[in-house]
Amino acid sequence: MENDTTRPGEDGASAGPCRADVVLEAKGVTKTYELDGVEVRALCGVDLQVCGGEMLAIMGPSGSGKSTLMHIVGLLDRPTEGTVTIDGVDVSRMEPNELAAVRNKRIGFVFQSFNLLARTTATANVELPLVYAGVPAAERARRAREALERVGLGERLLHMPNQLSGGQQQRVAIARALVTEPSIVLADEPTGNLDSRSGIEVMAFLQQLNREEGVTIVIVTHDANVARHAQRVVEIKDGRIVNDFRVEDRIDAEAELAALEGASAASGPQGGEGR
Ligand SMILES: Nc1ncnc2c1ncn2[C@@H]1O[C@H](COP(=O)(O)OP(=O)(O)OP(=O)(O)O)[C@@H](O)[C@H]1O
Ligand SMILES: [Mg+2]
Repeated sequence: MENDTTRPGEDGASAGPCRADVVLEAKGVTKTYELDGVEVRALCGVDLQVCGGEMLAIMGPSGSGKSTLMHIVGLLDRPTEGTVTIDGVDVSRMEPNELAAVRNKRIGFVFQSFNLLARTTATANVELPLVYAGVPAAERARRAREALERVGLGERLLHMPNQLSGGQQQRVAIARALVTEPSIVLADEPTGNLDSRSGIEVMAFLQQLNREEGVTIVIVTHDANVARHAQRVVEIKDGRIVNDFRVEDRIDAEAELAALEGASAASGPQGGEGR
């Protein structure tokens, strides 16, 4: 299903036209924070189009504006100037409750620090977005259980966050992002607090979600290796997009995991089987 949604105004560095519709678009987005009377320009005129079904990495050094951009396109924050459209609808002037409804319906978030409620079971954490959406209790419980089973945590439904490993906590957070069946998942440094193996498992899950269900995925990272799991990389520096390219040698996280299994099997009987 080819169509002609091109990226107007981009030069040779662009990654080419969308093969599907543009689902997320930022146009001329700036963000200025004011702190003790001093202005901090976090974003300086960002134009970005995200195509339906693509896996995109936003990469840049600390302080370059990645999280600010993700919060703005994810409708958690508003731009100082410029517009954000979702499925072609300008959300810039929507009322807060309308904005929250669009966000809840369309977008799932995964954060570096998991953002789970402490002293609250995995199931109740995953149910939370459904509470906001007004879904009845029995259906919430069923959908939360299914989402946790999907991320391999069917045996941990009633564990509290502090009774789970970091990788498992991040999987609870992913289940929470998926339970509303969003078409877009925004993940801010989803592997930043994980050991390398758990990080690869998270990337494998995101790649699978993208490949098999066509969920649009935007990962924010400062790590070029993490970015290479995406199809396209947008580099940001000092609040501006400085590069936008297709990944030629994309990493398949499943293959990385298989290689790790092989290496630990080869290293003798103690290898492998962590739990
Ligand atoms: N609430 C705020 N008030 C004032 N300045 C802010 C605020 N949030 C972010 N900034 C500033 O905006 C700039 C961009 O911050 P942002 O969090 O988007 O960076 P980042 O690329 O996500 O960095 P990191 O990789 O460290 O997470 C930074 O200079 C930061 O200090
Ligand atoms: Mg950040």
